[in-house]
Amino acid sequence: MPTPSTPTPPDIRVRRMSFDTSLASVPRHFAYDGDIVASHVAACLSAVFPDGEDYFVRSVRRFRDQVKGSSLEHPVNGFIGQEAVHGREHRAFNRRLSELGYPTRLIERLTERGLALADKVLSPKVNLAATAAAEHYTATLAELLLAEDGFRHLFGDQRVLDLFLWHALEEAEHKAVAFDVYRAVGGSERMRRRVMTGMNIGFIGGITVAVLVSLAGDPAAYNPLRLIPSVVRFLRSPVISRKVWRAIREYAREGFHPDDHDAVELLAAWREQLFGTDGSLKDRMAGVA
Ligand SMILES: [Fe+2]
Ligand SMILES: [Fe+2]
Repeated sequence: MPTPSTPTPPDIRVRRMSFDTSLASVPRHFAYDGDIVASHVAACLSAVFPDGEDYFVRSVRRFRDQVKGSSLEHPVNGFIGQEAVHGREHRAFNRRLSELGYPTRLIERLTERGLALADKVLSPKVNLAATAAAEHYTATLAELLLAEDGFRHLFGDQRVLDLFLWHALEEAEHKAVAFDVYRAVGGSERMRRRVMTGMNIGFIGGITVAVLVSLAGDPAAYNPLRLIPSVVRFLRSPVISRKVWRAIREYAREGFHPDDHDAVELLAAWREQLFGTDGSLKDRMAGVA
């Protein structure tokens, strides 16, 4: 039985959340100050999440039997449970975004097809490596959101921010799971690093195209007085900073592990703020598994 070379956080809780009703009245440009670009970027990220997360779950599930009985069994179950709830809640948000005119259905469909093709043409281990690489992206953005006021500020609408904060907390909680499964089943460093190069192109390229298509369908984006300041603000935001790119590139280092970036205290603080005694999201949680 293979064993993981690095410990994984043992306690990955599956919180049964429901944001559906609160998201039903989110306005079209929900980001801070009605910002166009930030609204479209958040909408496009939400649009790729559910099918992306289904793919992550499939990729990890194929190796579930190989880590059964090891210290990874419980984290894998937690990972699968958390991603399933993320997918469900983001689909609810995507339905609202679609009503508002965002091309979320199209993006969902293309994401689903693209990832089904990846399943077909790539080996299970490469798909697992791709999942570990994508999880590094989500964890990097998640920890940035939790750490940086300036990033949270961009979201504007508290209901949308709440959805992304909960998702970010759980992405950071389970950030090492797919990576540890990949290592435990004998995935090589060489393949891991090569797959990340493909992910850099696929993820950044895919999101950029999605945002451009989304903006092209928005009449407000044709008003330069709104679009230009919005683009400038976005380019100066923490999302496009050198710090983020450095954190993403860390993954290419030989011997890298997701827990090298210690977020234990950050996560403890957010767990308390969102789900502690007076947690701001406690009333959105139907239960914990
Ligand atoms: Fe997720
Ligand atoms: Fe994840």
